[in-house]
Amino acid sequence: MTGRTARLLPADDSGTRLLDLRDLEAHTRHYGAMPLVAVAADGRPGALIDELHTSGLRGRGGGWFPTSRKMHAVVESSAARRALSSGRKTVVIANAMEGEPASSKDVVLLSHSPHLVLDGIQAAARTIGATNAYIAVHRGSPVIGIIDAAIAERRGIDTVPIELITPPARYVASEESALAHWAGDGIATPVYGDRPFQRGMNGRPTLVQNAETLAHIALIARHGGTWFASIGDPAAPGTTLVSVGGAVATPGVIEVATGTSVRAILQRCGGESATVQGFLTGGYGGAWVKAEELIDTPWAPDSVANTGGVIGAGILWALDDEHCGIRELASVSRWMAGESAGQCGPCRFGLPSVADDLAVLLTAHADAETLGELNNRLPLIEGRGGCKHPDGTVRFIRTGLHAFHEELAHHLHGRCTARTSERALPIPSTREIPVRKGGKDFT
Ligand SMILES: Cc1cc2nc3c(=O)[nH]c(=O)nc-3n(C[C@H](O)[C@H](O)[C@H](O)COP(=O)(O)O)c2cc1C
Ligand code: SF4
Repeated sequence: MTGRTARLLPADDSGTRLLDLRDLEAHTRHYGAMPLVAVAADGRPGALIDELHTSGLRGRGGGWFPTSRKMHAVVESSAARRALSSGRKTVVIANAMEGEPASSKDVVLLSHSPHLVLDGIQAAARTIGATNAYIAVHRGSPVIGIIDAAIAERRGIDTVPIELITPPARYVASEESALAHWAGDGIATPVYGDRPFQRGMNGRPTLVQNAETLAHIALIARHGGTWFASIGDPAAPGTTLVSVGGAVATPGVIEVATGTSVRAILQRCGGESATVQGFLTGGYGGAWVKAEELIDTPWAPDSVANTGGVIGAGILWALDDEHCGIRELASVSRWMAGESAGQCGPCRFGLPSVADDLAVLLTAHADAETLGELNNRLPLIEGRGGCKHPDGTVRFIRTGLHAFHEELAHHLHGRCTARTSERALPIPSTREIPVRKGGKDFT
């Protein structure tokens, strides 16, 4: 995806755990050898699950779901299906797709510490008894060569084979059921019904974890759950990567302890480069928060949620007061409408209609009736899709209408107070969803 700032910013003395060294020798010297993680047996996960439980690790791919609970669910699902004589071996998919255009943390992580992610895949695979694993990065990703080389370096060391897969660079292709669909059938669309932990790739119970989550697992396997939980917010401990963008002096990726204040995060990035009117938290499926409501908030899921924001995949993006918030809503919602898999009503009809409403609100024809139609449509879209893509888009729009309500009032009188008609957030190009069959792509 385009428009990212894939730059690692200098660490401070609060500690950098994840972002370090690249080749296997330097990696092992720095982090120490990876212990041999116990394999799942008798329908129970391996012993690392207890450390993961103690660590309180929650997934960094967007939902902040407890990792030990997800692993338990995969193993239980596999055991239950084996009891019905239809069980198939579990599988792990590392999600390094980074579908959010304002995110660059996974690219930065894999550029610096690919072996930490691969160690985490090994540990997760053994803990759930998986026989093979995949790491998914989007087609054209700058880290493909790095991952290929790292996998080659580990040949003969890894006990569970890892394969690199490259689904298309589409927003919904990185949703977990879409990844499992692509890995099994070469079709990158979300699947409704059973979740991947129940029936994922080729019907196998599938553990999908974000790349950063897996890197944390690699460290927990070495140092234990208590060490991991020794810093950060007690309800979501550890460190976390943040992609900081927009109106800051030095946009890039930093690692902070959860609970670090937004103000301190911005200071690590050289501070604001202009007056900030609002922050986009969590990305294009995330939420806008007014600047003054977020600035002193701890960067932890519950605290950010109390402001109406969402950490999601760790995106903090500052919109300056030169740009028009309504224009950002219009352009991103149009892009999100085009990125859907087009299989469910809310995506086929709802998202294009709200993008149309927002486009009208940018023109001299903006009126209260259009705003009323937009407000009526949003609840009809929510909760009705096969995946969370439409819900995220609705949240992005609804919170934006609130954060930019003063500008919205100007638009309803045919005025825009922005000093530029450029948009600020990056909008990648939208492509057809390719279908892969017999090694060929069909679009
Ligand atoms: C539309 C959509 C796009 C998503 N894109 C990503 C992504 O790019 N990377 C990611 O790790 N998770 C993404 N997710 C979340 C995944 O479905 C899944 O929950 C996650 O990879 C699980 O990893 P975690 O438990 O380690 O967070 C997306 C979800 C949705 C609904
Ligand atoms: S809600 Fe949208 S993106 Fe999700 S499965 Fe349905 S059509 Fe696809």
